[in-house]
Order: sequence, then C-alpha cells, then structure tokens
Amino acid sequence: MVKAPLKPLALVTGASSGIGAATARQLAKAGYDLFLVARREERLKALSEELQSHSVRVQWAALDLRDRMALEQFFSSKAEALSRVEVLVNNAGLARGVEKVQEAEPRDWDEMLETNVRALLAFTRRVLPGMTARGSGHIVNVGSVAGRWVYPGGAVYAATKAAVKSISEGLRMDLIGTGIRVTNVEPGMVETEFSEVRLGSKSASDRVYARMQPLKAEDIADTILWSLQRPAHVNIQEIVIFPTDQAAVGQVHRRSSEGE
Ligand SMILES: NC(=O)c1ccc[n+]([C@@H]2O[C@H](COP(=O)([O-])OP(=O)(O)OC[C@H]3O[C@@H](n4cnc5c(N)ncnc54)[C@H](OP(=O)(O)O)[C@@H]3O)[C@@H](O)[C@H]2O)c1
Repeated sequence: MVKAPLKPLALVTGASSGIGAATARQLAKAGYDLFLVARREERLKALSEELQSHSVRVQWAALDLRDRMALEQFFSSKAEALSRVEVLVNNAGLARGVEKVQEAEPRDWDEMLETNVRALLAFTRRVLPGMTARGSGHIVNVGSVAGRWVYPGGAVYAATKAAVKSISEGLRMDLIGTGIRVTNVEPGMVETEFSEVRLGSKSASDRVYARMQPLKAEDIADTILWSLQRPAHVNIQEIVIFPTDQAAVGQVHRRSSEGE
C-alpha cells in the first residue's frame, strides 16, 4: 500500500492549555501534522485523540521544559521528527507572582527565565538545521505586550518577554537569506489559565477578567495561523493584539455591575 505523503509538521510547546491548545486545534484543521509538548500528559493525550478527527498525524511528549537533561534526551530521541519541523510555535510560558523585585522569590524568576527564554532558545536551535537545509520554515514566538510596556509587579515577566522580542529580532537578522520567517505575537489580556498560574487561585484569576471582555485563546490562534498562511515572501514580524476593552497595559475598561 502506498503511504500518504507527509503533511507539514508543526511543533507547539505549551499545547496542554490556553493559546497552545487553541493553536494546535487551528493547525490540525489547516492540515498540519502536529507535535505537542507540555508537562500534563493526560491533557496532551486527550487533545491528540481529539485532533485525530482531522486526519493528521499527532505526536506528543510530556516534558518539563526547565529540565535540561530531559530536554536533551527528547532532542536526541526525536531527532528525525525535529528535523522535519516546518513550523515551531514557542508558546509555553508563564508569569509567577506579582511581587516587587525586593520581595519576590528568586525561584519564581528562575522558572520564568528558564521556561520563557531558555527553552524557547533550545527548541529554536534544535529545529533550525532542518529548516535551513530545506530553505523554509516559520518560528512563531508567543511574546507579550509586557515585552514592550512594563507594569508594577511584572519586572521579571516583562524582561522575559522583552528577551523574546529581542531574540525574534536577532533571529530574523541571523536567518536573512535562508527563507525562514520569524514572527513575534504579542497579546494583551487573554483569558486562559495564565492568571490562575500567576496568582495561585481561580477566584483571583476571575477578578482579573471581571466585567471586561478579554481576548480568547482562539483569537491568538487565528492570528498565528494567519501569519503562517501569508505568502512565503511576507514575514509578519511583530503583531500586538489587545482586547478592545484594554487600551494599554494599565488601562482596562470595566462595565459597572448594572451591566453598562
Ligand atoms: N494569557 C495572557 O493574558 C497572555 C498574554 C500575553 C502573553 N501570554 C503568553 O502566552 C503563552 C501561553 O500562555 P496561556 O495564556 O495560554 O497560559 P496557560 O493556559 O497557563 O498555558 C501555558 C502553557 O505553558 C505550558 N508550560 C508552562 N510551564 C511549562 C514547563 N515548565 N514545561 C512545559 N510546558 C510548560 C503549560 O503546560 P503544562 O502546565 O501542562 O506544562 C501550558 O500548556 C505564554 O508564553 C504566556 O506568557 C499570555
């Protein structure tokens, strides 16, 4: 029997939740084979089963991106698949806490720096040889408006996303002439598990999005897919997306409880 030709392969980090899961769904619908990565195995398994209905091949790996040894093992055991990656969505990331620098826990900084910056670089480094050999590929980094505009209690998270912005910019310079595109998608408030992870409870997270309409994970996934679907000579370098109810990082319109 003749095997069906392979579809382009997209690897999405942080695919167990929020923007990553929504992006995986959009990419499967658009006909990409997928490689899903995050820590929560049961979520990845359920999503991969759900995505089979689109007739695409889905692989997944439960991996803590801060664990350098596990990461290296993953890179060597999956070398063949990684060499085929046509789209890398560096989405896994988090903010931890809102304390001032003088009061914060250094281990929270380590977690943000290792996940949001070092792991993004490690995945990027690992897929680039295949992309450069083929002369095509697309790296999509999920940055944040925090990478442009810092806010109180967000110094280190903002610094990680400013690093994502700089890395995206530098990568485009390093990759000029290779045909590889690099996009930095920078969202404002998106209702996902992000605020629950950051603040430690669902009720605190609910207060963040109270009486305003935040973005949905699907809004960011749409934008990622749109960037990928531009013609090969078009590179969407950076894209800032706020909800209509958020004019700036520190300015959110909240309706009155009477429902104004
Ligand atoms: N939500 C917002 O308002 C917002 C705004 C701007 C930018 N962003 C960015 O968007 C990206 C996605 O966040 P989200 O809003 O979708 O939040 P989310 O629902 O909390 O999703 C975060 C994802 O990252 C994964 N992740 C975190 N630490 C990891 C680790 N050590 N190893 C492997 N995977 C890890 C999580 O998976 P596991 O827990 O299963 O490992 C999860 O799949 C992040 O980079 C975030 O900074 C979010």
